Amino acid sequence: MRKPIMAGNWKMHKTIPEASALAAALKSAVGDETAVEVVLCPSFTALAAVADAVRGSNISVGAQDMHWEEQGAFTGEVSPLMLDGLCQYVIFGHSERREYFGETDETVNKKAKSALAHGLIPIICCGENLAQNEAGETEAFVSGQIRGALAGLSAAQVAGLVIAYEPIWAIGTGKTAEPAAVNSIIGLSIRGVIADMFGEETAQSVRVLYGGSVKPGNVDSFMVQPEIDGGLVGGASLNAESFAALVNSAAK
Ligand code: PGA
Repeated sequence: MRKPIMAGNWKMHKTIPEASALAAALKSAVGDETAVEVVLCPSFTALAAVADAVRGSNISVGAQDMHWEEQGAFTGEVSPLMLDGLCQYVIFGHSERREYFGETDETVNKKAKSALAHGLIPIICCGENLAQNEAGETEAFVSGQIRGALAGLSAAQVAGLVIAYEPIWAIGTGKTAEPAAVNSIIGLSIRGVIADMFGEETAQSVRVLYGGSVKPGNVDSFMVQPEIDGGLVGGASLNAESFAALVNSAAK
């Protein structure tokens, strides 16, 4: 059985005191949760404060990105060694990083390899834009993203990964993808491709999240789908009450 995950991607929100307060509120609301893995992904500046705030609870912490090198002349970047002790997860390939900051399948692949070598669990994002969706290109596009992101990894490494399928047109728009369509894309283009590359057993152990306007009012329609193991949540993770409601729904 794959354990569900509810991951909050706080994006470029929350000062250090705000992040601490949100993490503390979530620790009291859902810190004892054992049926769902709860992951909070603040900005780099708030990682240490959030890690402190959730210490002693079941809540995990994730970074929103990372460079693949351990150190070097890469102004503005953060390395895997710098994340040591601060978090367990790292998000790679979010559509906002691909669109505004030049992230590619190739850099996602380098980052995933480095994270795994440093004991961090990658949360790899994929998903098509509206034009691709309307042109019927979703399956081929997402399959290509998965092949690129996972190239050269071992089956054992892939088995522990988390993948987030996030149709770009559903992120932060209030529009959600159709749960049955999400289920089928995950089956075909994510688990199907992983099965082809690494075998069926590996494909069945990868945890796959849906992201894109997940809210307390729609989360159940996604969680009932057999291929969906949880959510990567932006807007609704910025408030303790709504994120706790999502965690509680995923725990049912
Ligand atoms: P959203 O963001 O929940 O605000 O749509 C999701 C994400 O970008 O991960």
